[in-house]
Formats: sequence, structure tokens, C-alpha cells
Amino acid sequence: MVTCSAPGKIYLFGEHAVVYGESAVACAVELRTRVTVVPAESTSITSGGQPLAIGEEPYIQNTLKIMEEFLALPPVSIRIDSEIPIAAGIGSSAALTVALLRALSIEFGVEMDLSLIAATAHRIERLVQGAASPTDTFVSTMGGVVVVPERRHLPPPGCKIVIGDAGIGTGAGAAMREKTGEMVLRVADLREAYPDAVDPVISAIGGLARSGVLLLEEGDCRGVGKLMNINHGLLEALGVGTTRLLRLVHAARDAGAFGAKITGAGGGGCMVALADNAREVAQGIERAGGKAMVVEIAQEGVRKE
Ligand code: PMV
Repeated sequence: MVTCSAPGKIYLFGEHAVVYGESAVACAVELRTRVTVVPAESTSITSGGQPLAIGEEPYIQNTLKIMEEFLALPPVSIRIDSEIPIAAGIGSSAALTVALLRALSIEFGVEMDLSLIAATAHRIERLVQGAASPTDTFVSTMGGVVVVPERRHLPPPGCKIVIGDAGIGTGAGAAMREKTGEMVLRVADLREAYPDAVDPVISAIGGLARSGVLLLEEGDCRGVGKLMNINHGLLEALGVGTTRLLRLVHAARDAGAFGAKITGAGGGGCMVALADNAREVAQGIERAGGKAMVVEIAQEGVRKE
């Protein structure tokens, strides 16, 4: 029996634009998915104590299929316990895939270093979602604050991170798990229809990520927050905002956050704020109808428990 855990992540900059090769900055957060694998008579899955049908779990199905490239995989019982809201922009699918790959590789003695875990998890996300950048899977595997495509670690922002869950686009079920792919497709359609308007937005987001890297290196949290606000406006321009997310973003800013934006694919799910006064910002988010979490940065990525 082996248990591994992997963290979720937030984007400080660059979701969606990263799909088109622009820079992005993501940060692993101390919300973990724990996966326990035990050799068994037949393969089964439980999540939070509830049984799941393998046919409805594309990330797990594809992970088991890909592990067959490394060994003849015997049946396993898979137990999932997750602190990460599902399909809400916090990288729940990446954390599940990374933790499961690591647990299976240790349990069955398959030599997989962290780079191979990250690359294999990215392959699985692509298989399930159609398009996926390597960001989520890399950050969940390695931990810390990372700029992509360079995959270089950056110093963490010297202020608190508050996540606000808007509640729409979250929950169990296959429709929710397709969300990221759907949102990526929506931006792709917009880009195809109006390339002259959308391409500059995408490259402006890349520019914000590059400027954000310099501010993080200088430890300028306030400046990072200002650029996050601009990034949020550009995500709205790409059509991935919702009324509820916008309300939480403004509630966080009104409560004194340095900056606040959507994190992840959008269309519901979560926003993220940087602040010194995390408690007040969390209260502001809750008053605006969101579920707030003050989270620590996860310096460590996937690990054996
Ligand atoms: O919502 P999440 O956590 O799956 O993040 C999606 C981020 C996108 O840039 C929209 C897609 C990707 O694969 O990078």
C-alpha cells in the first residue's frame, strides 16, 4: 500500500494565453489530493469514501492505461481524499493524476523520476482535455512558484494568498470535468473569429506574466497585485468571466487586496487575491457569496506520505 499526495495550484498570471505559448506564472498551494493504491482482486475507486465508476473517471482511466506502457498493471483499489475543489481552476485533475502516477510507480517499482511524472501527467491531461499546457501538472509535481515555459522557480510572493470559490462550475460529475477543455475551446473560437482583437489580448497577458516575474523577483507584492488586476480585465475580454467571479474579485479588492483575478479556466470556479490583510479579504469574499480559503504556498510538490 502506498499513499502519495500532490498539491493544487493557482495562476498569478497567464492562464489561457499559456495555451498559445505565452508565459505564465503559477504557484502550488497547500491544498492536497491524497491517493492510496492497494493491489486488489479487482480495480475499484473511492473518493471521499464514495465509490466512483471507473468509466466516468477519464483521468484515472487514462493513467491506468498509460501505466500499462511500463508494466502489466495488476488490479488496484484506488482511494482518493482531496482538499482541492473539483474542476474549479485549482488544478484538481492535475493533482489527482500526478499523485496517482507517483503512487502506482512506487507501489509497483516502476522507475519514474519527477520529470517523467510531470511529462506523463501532461500527456494524460492532453488526452482527456484535448488541449492542455504543461503548467498544472508541472507545478503539482514540483511545487513552488514556477514561470512557464521556462519552468524556472521564482521566489514566492511575500504576502498572503486568498482563494475565493464562486461555486459555479464546481462539483462532481463528468460535465464539470470537461470544463477546462470547453473554456479553452471557447477562447479558441473567439480567436478564430476575431484574430485581430484576440491575438493582442493574448500577447498582452504574456507581457503581464513577464513583468510579473520581475516584480516577484523584487518582492513587490503590491505591484504584482496591480498586474493581476489588469490580467483579470484581459480574461474578461477573452470571455471567461462570470458575474459571480467578478463580484468576488471586486469584493477582494474593496477589502484591501493588492490584486485579484480569476484563476484557471474561468466560466465559474475560483478567483485568487494577494493581500497582507488576508482575514479581511476572506471575509469580504464570503460576504459577496463566495467560499474563501487562505492558503499557504506548497514548496513541495508530489510526495509519498
Ligand atoms: O482551470 P484549470 O485549473 O484546469 O486551468 C486551466 C488553465 C488553462 O490555461 C485555461 C488551460 C491550460 O491547460 O493551461
